[in-house]
Amino acid sequence: MSEIEKIDAQPETWDRLFANVGQLGVITTVDGAGNVNAATFATCVRVVHQPVHIAFTTSPYKHTYKNVQETGQFTVNLPSFDRDILEKACVLGLPFDRGVNELEKAGFGAIPARTVKPPRVAECHRHFECEVLWTKEWTGRVMVVGNVLAASVDADCVDDRGYILFDKVKPVQYCGAPYQKYQGPPYHHWFVASYETMSVATPYDGPEMAEHDKIVADDLHFR
Ligand SMILES: Cc1cc2nc3c(=O)[nH]c(=O)nc-3n(C[C@H](O)[C@H](O)[C@H](O)COP(=O)(O)O)c2cc1C
Repeated sequence: MSEIEKIDAQPETWDRLFANVGQLGVITTVDGAGNVNAATFATCVRVVHQPVHIAFTTSPYKHTYKNVQETGQFTVNLPSFDRDILEKACVLGLPFDRGVNELEKAGFGAIPARTVKPPRVAECHRHFECEVLWTKEWTGRVMVVGNVLAASVDADCVDDRGYILFDKVKPVQYCGAPYQKYQGPPYHHWFVASYETMSVATPYDGPEMAEHDKIVADDLHFR
């Protein structure tokens, strides 16, 4: 794999770097002994603009959650809509034993993170290093919310204001586990390319438009 320049993203650009708001992620963690774990999660969502907080849901028995409980850290890496990357992401979803480094099993490369122990996945274009803020178990699932401590991106994937170049980063969404039975067996995962963009006006001329424009101009949606 050729050497890719990762650049540190400035905090004021972290919310725009995590576009789309919800997408497929590869989450790395380490256990208390420092063993690397990686798993694919369809449910990664940027839930707060500023400071940037990222959430995902999983099951309490999964190694990712156990590691998060042990160390309070995780790194979210965002794959692109490329078959070889998504195939590797599917391998990460297999039920490996605890302590197995799934990045090695899948053939992903690891590079150290800047601020936390869980590594960055070299082939992903964007990385968000998180400390756990809170977790909540309910109905057999668990939500993990993290505060972003550092973010980084491939140098050729953002413009000079930190907005992503969608045709380069090619964000992915997952159709969900039920779609594995759309065909097969052999079962396949189904993904959606979510990077066709459209700039859309709000065709309304009531007073709410002025309020809306002020909210945008003054960044009041960060409230
Ligand atoms: C494309 C894809 C999306 C997935 N999304 C989720 C998800 O949103 N939540 C979840 O709990 N598991 C999800 N999984 C399954 C986990 O990746 C899988 O259970 C993995 O083995 C968990 O690893 P861990 O025990 O090391 O945490 C997904 C798997 C794939 C391949």
